[in-house]
Amino acid sequence: MKLFNQGIPRGSAMSYAALLEKIEILRSTLRWSTSMERPDIEKLLRQANVLRDEVMQLSHKERFVQAVSAEPVPDLAAGERRQALLGRSFVFEGTFGDNPKLLDALEVAEKAAPTELPVLIDGESGTGKELMAKVIHANGSRADKPYISVNCGAIPESLLESELFGHKKGAFTGAATDRKGKFESAHHGTIFLDEIGELPLPGQVKLLRVLQSHEIQRVGSDETTLVDTRIVAATNKNLRKLIEEGLFREDLFYRLSVIQLTLPPLRERRDEIPLLISWYADESAEELKRRPVKMTAKLRDFLLNYSYPGNIRELRNLLYRISCLAGETADLAHLPEDIRPAAPTVRGKATPAAMSMSDAKRVASDEAERAYLERGLQEVGGTVAELARRWDMNRSHLQILLKKHGLHSKDFRKDA
Ligand SMILES: Nc1ncnc2c1ncn2[C@@H]1O[C@H](COP(=O)(O)OP(=O)(O)OP(=O)(O)O)[C@@H](O)[C@H]1O
Ligand SMILES: [Mg+2]
Repeated sequence: MKLFNQGIPRGSAMSYAALLEKIEILRSTLRWSTSMERPDIEKLLRQANVLRDEVMQLSHKERFVQAVSAEPVPDLAAGERRQALLGRSFVFEGTFGDNPKLLDALEVAEKAAPTELPVLIDGESGTGKELMAKVIHANGSRADKPYISVNCGAIPESLLESELFGHKKGAFTGAATDRKGKFESAHHGTIFLDEIGELPLPGQVKLLRVLQSHEIQRVGSDETTLVDTRIVAATNKNLRKLIEEGLFREDLFYRLSVIQLTLPPLRERRDEIPLLISWYADESAEELKRRPVKMTAKLRDFLLNYSYPGNIRELRNLLYRISCLAGETADLAHLPEDIRPAAPTVRGKATPAAMSMSDAKRVASDEAERAYLERGLQEVGGTVAELARRWDMNRSHLQILLKKHGLHSKDFRKDA
């Protein structure tokens, strides 16, 4: 076997060089020992087994990556890539956006979903990690089986084992009945381990055991139970850094990250901010049973140029807040105080990190698309089927475009 393989992509979770180093450590242990006791032999065997597992995982991942990249990647425009996914009956679960990085992630999700490989999703807070986990579940063969989400950061350490693996009656004070854990609940389905970087080290050891043996043991029980659970994990932490700091097990990281999927922060997909604003302005109005708010130019300007450290969730929350607090027209005053600009925004000046040329083009193109759709809907009096026929367009694609722009056909009916 060729150990140094140039074909491994940069950023691959595990490298042949790292494995080689481990093999060398093992070799030198053997080289310098004159006699060896059974426990030492056992220990070396265990290390060799771990190495074998890692080699297998790496080769599995390599084959997967090759399969993905072996296909000719047609140079499709974003809209066509989304349309192609739709044509292959991909389930978006409400994920929208045509940003190339997001489409990259969706295309990897499409390939990974039907497999049993663990997926690790990383991305800043609010970038849609949980949504992506649901997308993976919905597009796999387990879609009609349970999807169980566990927030590893929210469970007190003392309860973690029982939460994940269940417990037997009387296992500890308060364990009044037998109880199954999340892994058993997710049997045949998917378990989403959110904030995996928050899992304490003892919990990591136990999770590793499940990943290796597919068996769980309820707290206080000697019996083992086989569980068939597909694992999707997410983190907004840098796990490699946690590994360096001794806070996350390297072997668990390799096990979880056979497929790694990174979601772009909103500041890298600014071109989609206008669409998200109109989407959440409509959604919040509907939820709050009010008419969509009008926005002053200053507020719109702010929303278009704000940095959104909390990403899509922050944008969504802002729009809900504005819809709740504003009367007919919303202004800067309806923003939370900590982000409200101190002085009036001067166009162009308060926005040094303005859009790039390509982002500006996309925004313009989106605006043109929206105007075109609005005109079309007006002409057919809000009948989507008729518009699809006139434009010789797939009806469901047209529906998605309308959804993307927050347009409601009923608003264009003649009697509306
Ligand atoms: N591409 C997208 N299209 C539509 N809505 C999205 C998209 N990405 C995220 N959202 C919405 O943004 C909100 C945050 O998404 P989600 O909870 O999946 O993020 P997260 O990465 O898990 O955040 P956190 O790290 O804070 O838990 C949700 O309301 C979700 O529906
Ligand atoms: Mg989340």
